[in-house]
Amino acid sequence: MQLLNGKQTAETLKAQIAEQVDELRARGGKIPHLAAVLVGSDGASETYVNNKVLACERVGFKSTLIRLDSDVSEDALLAEINKLNQNADIDGFIVQLPLPEHINETRVTLAIDPAKDVDGFCPANVGRLCLGLPTFVSATPNGIMELLRHHNIETEGKHCVVIGRSNIVGTPMSLLMSRNTNPGNSTVTLVHSRTKDMAAICRSADILIVAIGKAEFVGADMVKDGAVVIDVGITRLPDANTKSGYRLAGDVDFAAVKDKCSWITPVPGGVGPMTIVSLLQNTLKAQTLRQQ
Ligand code: GUN
Repeated sequence: MQLLNGKQTAETLKAQIAEQVDELRARGGKIPHLAAVLVGSDGASETYVNNKVLACERVGFKSTLIRLDSDVSEDALLAEINKLNQNADIDGFIVQLPLPEHINETRVTLAIDPAKDVDGFCPANVGRLCLGLPTFVSATPNGIMELLRHHNIETEGKHCVVIGRSNIVGTPMSLLMSRNTNPGNSTVTLVHSRTKDMAAICRSADILIVAIGKAEFVGADMVKDGAVVIDVGITRLPDANTKSGYRLAGDVDFAAVKDKCSWITPVPGGVGPMTIVSLLQNTLKAQTLRQQ
């Protein structure tokens, strides 16, 4: 078994982005500027957004964090989005999800200027992805594609099973893997909570991508010998044997599965760091496209 080392890959790609920013600075170009909108103070969202802002600093981007109270009205959030759309210094921005119940997520993503939608969440960009047109691909699926590319994982003609049909990961992932690209050209099956005999379908997967949000859901009975396993999940599980009182678990039972795999992503240090790199890549791309 070999590890798909997201942490190390992300460091390499971040160093490349930092070099491009240095070149931009040297020739007096515009420094990429990412803004993030955080509504409320959900612990996980707070951590994710802080990591995104820190990553911007590491590669030399400008970043702006806009915090709004959890009871902010939808109209006030839309007004904030409109300001970011109009702000010429902002190249791209994200609105961290999930949003409080009283805010309509679709209305929010529809309000984002597609040229600044570096999360690739707005309907125009999702539609472009479906049609195979240039777009911003959302960060997690894009990060997984980069991880496969970086490790030269053969995907053409392989059976790729994606577990989970979320808008953010499962659905775009299944599209990307079925594309005529490298990586890509896989035969894709998307399985979900209503799938019959999921374990048997997963056992036929050469590449298994798990984005279901249930800790250690995938056990050895769901993995074929020699499979490539990509674990998108990250959950805190109570663990009295650790100093912190918890441990981080993926959607895959790593200990049970690892010896069956040819490649597997660790959690943490697999998909997570790649997600942030993708957001940085999309921001740099937005900046480049806006200067043309
Ligand atoms: N919530 C979970 N993942 C993401 C992401 O990639 N972007 C945003 N905006 N919110 C998220």
